Amino acid sequence: MSGQEQSNWSSRPGLPLHGTVRVPGDKSISHRALLLAALAQGDSHVTGFLEGEDTRATAAVLARLGVRIDAPAPGERVIHGVGLHGLRGAEQALDCGNAGTGMRLLAGLLAGQAFDSTLTGDASLSTRPMRRVIEPLMRMGARIDSRTGLPPLHVHGGQMLHGVRHVTPVASAQVKSALLLAGLYAAGTTQVVEPHPTRDYTERMLAAFGWPIQFAPGRASLAGGHALHAADVAVPADFSSAAFFIVAASIVPGSELRLPAVGLNPRRTGLLQALQLMGADITVENLQDNHGEPTGDVVVRHAPLHGIELPPGLVPDMIDELPVLFVAASVAEGRTIISGAAELRVKESDRIATMAAGLRALGTSMAETPDGAIIDGGRLGGGRVTSHLDHRVAMSFAVAGLVAQAPVRIDDCATVATSFPGFRDIANHCGFDVREGR
Ligand code: S3P
Repeated sequence: MSGQEQSNWSSRPGLPLHGTVRVPGDKSISHRALLLAALAQGDSHVTGFLEGEDTRATAAVLARLGVRIDAPAPGERVIHGVGLHGLRGAEQALDCGNAGTGMRLLAGLLAGQAFDSTLTGDASLSTRPMRRVIEPLMRMGARIDSRTGLPPLHVHGGQMLHGVRHVTPVASAQVKSALLLAGLYAAGTTQVVEPHPTRDYTERMLAAFGWPIQFAPGRASLAGGHALHAADVAVPADFSSAAFFIVAASIVPGSELRLPAVGLNPRRTGLLQALQLMGADITVENLQDNHGEPTGDVVVRHAPLHGIELPPGLVPDMIDELPVLFVAASVAEGRTIISGAAELRVKESDRIATMAAGLRALGTSMAETPDGAIIDGGRLGGGRVTSHLDHRVAMSFAVAGLVAQAPVRIDDCATVATSFPGFRDIANHCGFDVREGR
């Protein structure tokens, strides 16, 4: 992590939120652009690249594997692809930092190489379950050692991979993507079937880089033995980063915010539907097709929110936005019931437990269930909460501070830089009052 190890914040009510908020590039797409461009033949130019610690960790891993990556300007990368078989082994362990996406996708990609690799990560990543990728990759012929299914992962090279049909028990774009990346190196067809469709960025980008692939919501299949060709990628603004501002403007009276050119892939925007069910005033303008990805300006005005029973079918489409939805629910009128979200327990922190602990410290009545929560809305008080090294938990509590009756003091905010460098400045610019220090 960067030099912000001890970063603690306090967040308190500021002004009504106003103006135009430009959030950084999409994390999921930035990771995939690096990985596919590295394996392509030729030079790929990426714009809108997320300058976050997670995506930079993936770039650093690729550099260690022999890929030249130039950064001509912030948010831009030129990746000099080495071709499918052009990576070379690294002597030391490859550090994925905080990034589950980086580690899981790299596990699939490295399973098909001729050399051995070791993938490591920070304290949070070292507790995250990897069996979900190890087991299906081993069914494809990969050899991966781990300590009880947790990082570090030792990925053996020189294995002959073969395609499998894998029905994922949980909806996970990371698992699907790991298998598709291994499938590039496999004999025969690799097919992934999901219980609920997940973000399909890997599939779309493989097609854009010229690899034949069949995909539809909830399924994808490809055969090995083709080549990737360099392509330019324009990364849209990250909906998950926009989400903090969408909730903030919804709950702070007098607010109106515009978030331009946000990625609106339907597999990401469940939060918009959930907030609209709660009474939010959100519109989308300038809807466009940005290289195959829908983007648009999200315009949010304050509106009184009421509790809902969240349709479980929306959960996979807003899995990263649930922490900030918990904040919205804690100031909405009435009860909100969330279920079908057990995956939250294995994110950068156990997001049900960490949000419940923090929101209760601020006076909310939030009961945990194994796969969700029951939240009775009311008023938030001030208090001290900890992010548990989870970027989205830290930013969610910064949003809570906007409507709390006393400052919300948030410990361990350095990890915000993994997905949203500059969050505090951007937030303060539109009316937040988030300060460094307790
Ligand atoms: C991601 C997939 C999701 C999401 C994560 C990014 C991706 O994880 O929570 O932030 O880029 O594929 P899962 O695949 O574990 O659901």
